[in-house]
Amino acid sequence: MQARIVLLPGDGIGPEVVSQAQRVLATVADRGGRRFEFDSRPIGGCAIDACGEPLPAETLSACRESDAILLGAVGGPKWDDPTAKVRPEQGLLKIRKELQLFANLRPIRTWDCLIPASPLREEIAAGTDILFVRELTGGIYFGASGLEALPQPGQERAWNVMEYSTAEIERVVRVAAQAATQRRGKLTSVDKANVLEVSRLWRRTAERVVRSEFPALTYENVLVDAMAMHLIARPRDFDVVVTENLFGDILTDEGSMLPGSLGLLPSASLGSDGPGLYEPIHGSAPDIAGKGVANPLATILAGAMLLRHSLRWDEGGAMIEQAVQAVLDRGLRTRDIARGGPSVGTVEMTDAVLAALPR
Ligand code: IPM
Ligand code: MG
Repeated sequence: MQARIVLLPGDGIGPEVVSQAQRVLATVADRGGRRFEFDSRPIGGCAIDACGEPLPAETLSACRESDAILLGAVGGPKWDDPTAKVRPEQGLLKIRKELQLFANLRPIRTWDCLIPASPLREEIAAGTDILFVRELTGGIYFGASGLEALPQPGQERAWNVMEYSTAEIERVVRVAAQAATQRRGKLTSVDKANVLEVSRLWRRTAERVVRSEFPALTYENVLVDAMAMHLIARPRDFDVVVTENLFGDILTDEGSMLPGSLGLLPSASLGSDGPGLYEPIHGSAPDIAGKGVANPLATILAGAMLLRHSLRWDEGGAMIEQAVQAVLDRGLRTRDIARGGPSVGTVEMTDAVLAALPR
C-alpha cells in the first residue's frame, strides 16, 4: 500500500523535528511492507520569505492531493513585527480553514517516568489521560473582525465576533462523543453559557446531540473558568473534553504542562474527509533552533497519530508509540525533560526510537 505524505517543516525547530519524524515513518513503512512518498513544501515564515505569502497555492494544492500532512511549526521573531501585513500564523489558520479541519484532537497524558518533570505534585498529575477535542475552524478566530478610527484623535475601536452555527457545533461534538465511546465513556463540554449567547447555543446543541445519539455516555457541562481550575486540581477526572476554538487553545496550553514538557505532545486536525494534518503542539522554539537539541518525540508521536487516523494503520501507530515508551523507560532524555541531568540530542533520540522499533 502506498501513501502520499506532505511534509510542512515550517520555521525554527520545525525542520529538525519533521526530518526525524520522517525517518521514523519511513522505517515503520518499510517494516510493515508499505510505501510512503514524502513531498516537502514551505509554510509560515519561510514561505513568506520565499514566496511572499505564508501558505503558497502550490503548498495548499499539494496538501489537498495528499493522504496526510505532517507539520513542524510556524513563526519566529523575524516575522513578529506587529505592523506586518502577513504573519506566519496566517498560513496555519488558512490551511485549517481551506481543508475544513474542524476537529483538533489534543491528547494530554502523563508518563510515569517523567512525572518528576511535571510542575504539579505526583499525586495530582499521575494517571492523567485526557483527549481534548478543540473546534478549529470557527468561533472568534474566524468571525467578523474589524478596526476603525474614532472621531476623537488617536482613538480606535476593534472587534472580533465569536460565532457558531448549530451544524458547526454538532459535527465537532459528534467527533468528541465518538472518541469518548471508544475511551472511558465520559464527555465534558466546556463553555461560558452563564455569559455568552454563543455558548448557550453550544450547550443546548451539545446536550441534544449527546443525549439523543450517544445516550450511554456520561456527560457534563463545565464553565471555562472553572475548567481552568479543575484541570490542574483534578485532571484524572476528565476523559474527553470538547470545546470551542479559543477556549480550546488556552486550555490545551494549560493542560500541556501536566506531563512536564511540551516536547512530548502530538495533535491531529481532522475534517470529515480528506487528509488530516498532524503536528507537535509545541511551537517553533527559535531560541534552540538549529542547535540539534529539540525534542523530536512530539512530532514522532504526531506521525503515529497520522498512521492511526489518516492511514487507518493502528498497528503502525502502536509500533511508534511503544518505541517511544521504551526509550523513555530506558531513561533517555532530551534537554527539555532531563531536569539538568545527562541529555541526548534530536538525532540521537530518534536513533534510539528507530532501534526500539520491532523488527
Ligand atoms: C495552536 C497555536 C495557533 C492557534 C496559533 C499559532 C495560530 O497557538 O495551534 O494552538 O492559536 O491556534
Ligand atoms: Mg495555541
